Amino acid sequence: MYHPQNQPFPKDFLWGASTSAYQVEGASLEDGKGPSCQDVKQVPAGTSDLKVCADQYHRYKEDIKLMAEMGFKTYRFSIAWSRILPNGTGEINQKGIDYYNNVINECLKYGIEPLVTMFHFDMPAALDERGSWGNPESVKWFVDFAAILFENFGDRVRYWLTINEQNVLTLSGPVIGTLHLPEGCTNVLKEIYQQNHHMLVAQAKAMCLCHEMLPEAKIGPAPNISLVYPATCKPEDILAAQNFNAIRNWLYLDMAVYGIYNAIVWSYLKDHDATPTFAPGDEEAMKNAHPDFIGFNYYNTATVEAADFDALTETANATLGDQQSGREIPGVFRQIHNPNLPKTQFGWEIDPVGFRATTREMYSRYHLPLLVTENGLGAYDTLTEDGRVHDEYRIKYYQDHLAEIQKSITDGTEFLGYCPWSAVDLISTHEGMVKRYGFIYVDRDEFDLKTLDRFKKDSFYWYKRVITSNGEDLSDLKPEEVYD
Ligand code: BG6
Repeated sequence: MYHPQNQPFPKDFLWGASTSAYQVEGASLEDGKGPSCQDVKQVPAGTSDLKVCADQYHRYKEDIKLMAEMGFKTYRFSIAWSRILPNGTGEINQKGIDYYNNVINECLKYGIEPLVTMFHFDMPAALDERGSWGNPESVKWFVDFAAILFENFGDRVRYWLTINEQNVLTLSGPVIGTLHLPEGCTNVLKEIYQQNHHMLVAQAKAMCLCHEMLPEAKIGPAPNISLVYPATCKPEDILAAQNFNAIRNWLYLDMAVYGIYNAIVWSYLKDHDATPTFAPGDEEAMKNAHPDFIGFNYYNTATVEAADFDALTETANATLGDQQSGREIPGVFRQIHNPNLPKTQFGWEIDPVGFRATTREMYSRYHLPLLVTENGLGAYDTLTEDGRVHDEYRIKYYQDHLAEIQKSITDGTEFLGYCPWSAVDLISTHEGMVKRYGFIYVDRDEFDLKTLDRFKKDSFYWYKRVITSNGEDLSDLKPEEVYD
């Protein structure tokens, strides 16, 4: 739809950016922190481990000062469960509480609203040993952890996110290093969707608890949502797109918002004897939970075609792909490359218009304000001799995506804020340090930690102006705007 004039971004729009604890903090076993699944996993060959990352644990003051300089209204970061509870349950590590108190207070000092993710891919290793999300007790573990967070930080944190990308944990757990399967598991799909069910219940209970303990606070989920396009107008492709939309997107939001299982997904699980078992009270808990907004990560759309079912090749062909690409389930859908879209250096498609389409669809399904919790471009950045990073490709990516958000606002979609990935360079989920996303460059290589000093990329200066103008001025960076 063409609008002769776009609506402005809302007055109190939360401009900011995101990180996650295990990718940015480092200090992976310092000051009493217990290991998480990320600390004990085998990292992909050729990529750094997660011991130091961007060393934000020791440099949060410097980082938050730089965020303040960009004019951030919010900073989305996650709390490492095993920093607070080294064993996942039981004794609290006071130094962990102190650290996040410091981060929160530092944000508030600059008027930056802390936006806290309660769980971002980092199950305490001690709980993995007890069966991870497959253990029905995991619901209680998470709710108890949530209570500690609300109790200790709820006087200052007004915005909470439950589980980062639960759909990615479910669909691509092995790529992210999070899937824990019990020995001798014979129906992997059933196990995975049982784990998924426990997360859904845990999330629902945490949302209710948040509303009980912190009536002024707002809480929402943070899945990775990408509208799925059909490859053609062939009716079979349309069905395939509906299938993947349900499996990838709507399962998570139908449950978070309406407390119901998506019917298409339920029938797919039934076909594979993989429907989850409900514990007494689960149904009620899921119905009682009501998010205040939908947080979501958007990188690009997906495109699928129909995939014939062939029982013989079903298992062999069922591929997981990563967060954004390469999935196939025989008889359900097959993801293909969309020939209309360019790709990043790391092979992810770029689709700003799809951002508008995704948000329009989400808003018309759920009627809740949207908070973009991730969006961004992973690229090989280069630090020049004079300490600059000319990342005009990242600026272009953000210009295009923000322009589409503005059109979506004009279409009538309600947005709370925009927190791209990432505030600071950090370690990618499975592609190492060289895949950089930040506005702030961190001086280290994949294996050489170098100085870990911070440098402002060109996108830093550009985003600063975007925030100052409340999104009114998205134009190219001018030479006089750069460098201080
Ligand atoms: C999201 C995650 O999947 O995308 C982040 O929430 C992640 O943790 C980001 O880093 C970018 O993905 P990647 O694989 O490039 O690090």
